Amino acid sequence: MDGNGRWAKKRFLPRTAGHKAGAKSVRRIIENCVKHKIAALTLFAFSSENWQRPADEVNALMSLFIEHLQKEIPLFIEHNIKLRVIGDIATLPQGLQQQIQETEATTATHTGLNLNIATSYGGRWDICQATKMISEKVLNGELSLEQISEETVAKHLVLADLPEPDLFIRTSGEQRISNFLLWQLAYTELFFTETLWPDFDTDSFDEALAWFAARQRRFGKTS
Ligand code: FPP
Repeated sequence: MDGNGRWAKKRFLPRTAGHKAGAKSVRRIIENCVKHKIAALTLFAFSSENWQRPADEVNALMSLFIEHLQKEIPLFIEHNIKLRVIGDIATLPQGLQQQIQETEATTATHTGLNLNIATSYGGRWDICQATKMISEKVLNGELSLEQISEETVAKHLVLADLPEPDLFIRTSGEQRISNFLLWQLAYTELFFTETLWPDFDTDSFDEALAWFAARQRRFGKTS
């Protein structure tokens, strides 16, 4: 969800105003996913590297996450949305951790859209935490080295229960993955748009879906 800062700068507003506008886009896109019966949406809200931003911006983002995880509970209930926050949760402020627990518990039995918010998340962190879990199993004799396969790694990633993403969307003209779902994106279709995240509306999303529908996916095979 890139481009909040530039959206605000163009309007002579503080960066936090861009993040607030970005939160409105989040709601629009969630509703559009429900409308299209999309099974899973993972939003990259805060990367492992975003901790290096100025403290006041980080604090404002953490407060915004708490506010929205609370405020959107009725939306999650109305649309049967299962909310999960993925990432290094222990590094998040206590208040946010509590709100995550509450919202996840409230929506745990929902069977509609799987909505994942990646917060304090990095694809490298994900692979690293999977490696630690696998190593522990090897050390205590639960698993032998010969048994470790790609499937073993995939099973220890935070989104192990969901299929790999079909479509990746990056806004704001940047053409990078920036440490998002590194393992899972191996065969994902990558869509890049100049649109800044707060301007990314249902038409922009539908345009990305139409682009995706026209892709021929070969997964390394011939057509
Ligand atoms: C990147 O744009 C955006 C972020 C680091 C924050 C994303 C957060 C939101 C959209 C707020 C709401 C989220 C939820 C889940 C309620 P940037 O600030 O780096 O933009 P720039 O590159 O133009 O400076």
